[in-house]
Amino acid sequence: MPTPNISSSSARGFRRAVSELDSKQAEAILSPQFIGRRQSLIEDARKEREAAAAAAAVAAASASETTESTETIVFEEKDGMAILNLLFTLKGAKTSLPSRALKVFETFEAKIHHLETRPSKKLREGARVGAMDLEYFVRCELRSCDLSTLISTLKRVSEDVRSTKEDKFHWFPRKISELDRCHHLVTKFDPDLDLDHPGFSDPVYRQRRKMIAEIAFHYKQGDPIPRVEYTAEEINTWKEVYSTLKSLYPTHACKEHLDAFHLLERYSGYSENNIPQLEDVSQFLKERTGFQLRPVAGLLSARDFLASLAFRVFQCTQYIRHASSPMHSPEPDCCHELLGHVPMLADKTFAQFSQDIGLASLGATDEEIEKLATLYWFTVEFGLCKQNGIIKAYGAGLLSSYGELIHSLSDEPELRDFDPDATAVQPYQDQTYQPVYFVSESFSDAKAKLRAYAARIKRPFSVKYDPYTFSIELLDSPQKIHRSLANVRDELHLLIDALNIIS
Ligand SMILES: [Fe+2]
Repeated sequence: MPTPNISSSSARGFRRAVSELDSKQAEAILSPQFIGRRQSLIEDARKEREAAAAAAAVAAASASETTESTETIVFEEKDGMAILNLLFTLKGAKTSLPSRALKVFETFEAKIHHLETRPSKKLREGARVGAMDLEYFVRCELRSCDLSTLISTLKRVSEDVRSTKEDKFHWFPRKISELDRCHHLVTKFDPDLDLDHPGFSDPVYRQRRKMIAEIAFHYKQGDPIPRVEYTAEEINTWKEVYSTLKSLYPTHACKEHLDAFHLLERYSGYSENNIPQLEDVSQFLKERTGFQLRPVAGLLSARDFLASLAFRVFQCTQYIRHASSPMHSPEPDCCHELLGHVPMLADKTFAQFSQDIGLASLGATDEEIEKLATLYWFTVEFGLCKQNGIIKAYGAGLLSSYGELIHSLSDEPELRDFDPDATAVQPYQDQTYQPVYFVSESFSDAKAKLRAYAARIKRPFSVKYDPYTFSIELLDSPQKIHRSLANVRDELHLLIDALNIIS
């Protein structure tokens, strides 16, 4: 991977800003190792969309060669397995057991999730009036590659094979415990695989990364997060990053970040000589906003990462960047998470904004996931906001990068008003600093705009998070919507009573 450079005009302005720093800070920022490629959810989301489009094209081509497209009957598809709902009646039907049809499912090792019979509405040709055939409903899971053959075989022993009219959408977790299934890692920045990773030629660092990754691989939702005893070298790296960034926060960070940072220093072990433990920080966040941390071994797929946010779970790395490169990490590490993300997640409005992005992602198409990942990039990672007429940083990518924090608030980049429709399709930069940043009027304003955007995402249902059961409720029937409205009415009465009391 070539070493990226910032453009000459950008470099001039940037150096102007850097010249105001002390020599140690300036050297760290202008070091050739400082600017480098960074992880992003967007690239992963784009790859997934392109792969899905290619797979769909192949499936359509093969379906046209066989009997009919299987696209319309697959309810859900993941990891090479398809779940489908089928309806059929048996040829020459009697009321005996449909052994021949069941044999078909057995042959293809299809796992039957649900099987039921009901009187068929159609009268079979040649059947006497009053005779009643049975219609079979089967919900089953099988290898995607066997789908076409199973259906053509089933057609030999049954009639009127068809799918139910359920809409197809991507699987997503409904209960918080199902986040244990959201673990699809993107390993492109793994020090074992990436020649350009600062830790690639350091076997001790690679071994350490593996050891910490094991914690994440074995973690189950609800477990306390195991503690890591950080080495003196790791604490030194943390100290350098912590002290350098902290000196810039009073002038560059938004008020919400400053307030939470102060509390984290007081209650959660934040100091330049101590790397806070994820479990302690998670407890702090739970008390502030209901957010919690979950250890992760690296960069997750965009779909899995965003789904976690819907449950107010933030997937958080526990390892630290390589000691040779304290001012830059090509991937998220605990400096980025603890200094950039955690303070912001302690703010109620920002926490809601983050959860809203997650809720919007559930069941969304690959195209929408890519747009939501882009929105996440330009807000949660690189967002700016106005406070008392002054622009401040709230994005974690800025608040964990000394150089980009200065750059973002210098006169070099272009600043645009946050508009989800435009932001969601803005090309991003992962080789160097962003040339464009989006400025929100306030977190409340950003939240309202995001909700309006999310409401236009086409899904056959709406979702609502139930904080009592830590689960996602699908608002897909009038009864469920009425039940939710009744809860809202109760809450309104409570608020009206409270208003009456204080007035
Ligand atoms: Fe991040």
